[in-house]
Amino acid sequence: MISTAPLARQHQFDKHAQHWDLLGSPLRPCAEDMRLMQSCFDKWYAAYRPAQSSTPLKALLLGVTPEIATQNWGVPVDLTAVDICQAMIAAVWPGDTPTRRALCADWLEMPDTKLAMPGTEHAFDMILADGVFVLLDYQTSYGKLARAVQRCLKGDGIFMVRPFLRPSVAEHWENIFEELQGKRIGSFHAFKWRLLMSLQGDDVRQGVAVVKAWEIYQRHVSSHAHLADVTGWPVEEIETIDAYQHSPAVYTFPSMDELIEIVSPYLFCTSQETGRYELAGRCPMLSFKPL
Ligand SMILES: C[S@@+](CC[C@H](N)C(=O)[O-])C[C@H]1O[C@@H](n2cnc3c(N)ncnc32)[C@H](O)[C@@H]1O
Repeated sequence: MISTAPLARQHQFDKHAQHWDLLGSPLRPCAEDMRLMQSCFDKWYAAYRPAQSSTPLKALLLGVTPEIATQNWGVPVDLTAVDICQAMIAAVWPGDTPTRRALCADWLEMPDTKLAMPGTEHAFDMILADGVFVLLDYQTSYGKLARAVQRCLKGDGIFMVRPFLRPSVAEHWENIFEELQGKRIGSFHAFKWRLLMSLQGDDVRQGVAVVKAWEIYQRHVSSHAHLADVTGWPVEEIETIDAYQHSPAVYTFPSMDELIEIVSPYLFCTSQETGRYELAGRCPMLSFKPL
């Protein structure tokens, strides 16, 4: 395993790795998300390879999301996953095979022709991602990632991503706690995502420090055990919010327009599909083609 990522960023996701199994939708893609991704793939592939070439498609996965890594696309695919965090690869990656491998490197430095990923300039038929933008700084890194994706994709390739978008009308965090107490929220993860989005508000350039969500939660919920009693949610899932307590992470939730605009020098959005699960409207499946 070759590592090209700076040390601090490599370790930022160590906690995420420890509690990965406790995370659920919408933080991780559910079966419905994977059906949408497959249907976007099928439409693109029908036009891309009508003659059914026997050469495996070259795919790049941003991160090690196992639901995507293990998807059977119905045609041969050779998959390279890139993740900055060795602990995530160790905990979450379903394992290397002759047609699937994970590399420890920074998406923003792709295509890295010197070290981990030789020959990746315009080499991939498809690039796949879940979340990703949420972890990046809107001002500087969204454009860098879009440029990296464009440079790694073949000219007629596809980039499929499920971003996390804030709602068009911001929620008040006080209302979210009222809904929490009234048992009108379906899962702790949906609650966490709504809280973070509401705390960010409309300023995607500033984003939201995840520690802010932890502090407000502490002030409004007497204990994890009490919330587990009230909601029936597993206390271990509720405890995942403690990962925010000392975290330096700042998440960013753009609107659809903000996302499309900032990637527009490099990528053009060709389709948008939305599921029906809780918060699906904030997590659409988007397809892009490189410009
Ligand atoms: C693919 S994303 C999203 C997965 C999941 N849906 C979520 O939101 O938590 C999470 C992964 O991105 C990785 N990551 C974050 N920033 C990165 C970067 N600049 N380069 C490579 N991997 C990065 C983290 O190590 C983590 O494993």
